[in-house]
Amino acid sequence: MFETVVRDAVVLKPLETWHADEFAEHMSRARDHIRPWVGPTFVTDTVEGARATLQRYATATASDGARIYGLWDGGKIVGGVMFVTFDPVWGICELGCWLEPDAVGGGLITRSVELLMEWAFVERGMSRVEWRCRTDNDRSVAVAQRLRMRSEGVLRSSWVYDENRYDKEVFSILRAEWMGTRAVIAQ
Ligand SMILES: CC(C)(COP(=O)(O)OP(=O)(O)OC[C@H]1O[C@@H](n2cnc3c(N)ncnc32)[C@H](O)[C@@H]1OP(=O)(O)O)[C@@H](O)C(=O)NCCC(=O)NCCS
Repeated sequence: MFETVVRDAVVLKPLETWHADEFAEHMSRARDHIRPWVGPTFVTDTVEGARATLQRYATATASDGARIYGLWDGGKIVGGVMFVTFDPVWGICELGCWLEPDAVGGGLITRSVELLMEWAFVERGMSRVEWRCRTDNDRSVAVAQRLRMRSEGVLRSSWVYDENRYDKEVFSILRAEWMGTRAVIAQ
């Protein structure tokens, strides 16, 4: 089974439908923390809901589309990263991420996103990687900035949570920009 060591006992590997039980347990630890920032169809509250999320990604992955990877710390899922979209014809993909609260602040997401960007640009020849988040999601904005993504603008009033509307910011990095900075980032 493919897996990549992100740090110490933390590994990154594909999150698949057969992980539904442990993904649901993880979601019960992560739900309140991630719900303001992550879409409702991802933040489920049953094993069936968790399996449906993973099945959507599995179906998309089979068509060379979206993909999802979990982070396991000492055998327990603590978060993950995903290609929210992946379009090899246009050479454009969007990355996303989440963590349960106890895993925040350790650099796991920055390193994992870096690994996915390297794969997207170098192995898959993508031209553009996007990152979209609420403008007030400081930690998500910090990940984008840490990985040299550039802000392209704000999609006003485009995120709904708890009956309120929020602005979203779009970041991106292009292939040439990544290739020019990756050696520095990887150190
Ligand atoms: C967005 C989210 C995943 C970011 O998590 P995060 O832990 O801040 O990001 P990282 O894992 O990259 O860790 C960065 C932190 O670890 C620290 N760190 C430690 N070692 C590090 C390393 N080797 N490399 C980078 N950062 C490191 C950084 O200083 C930073 O901490 P600080 O902000 O207190 O200075 C998290 O806040 C979350 O789950 N939010 C809710 C869901 C969400 O918003 N998802 C994204 C929707 S767009």
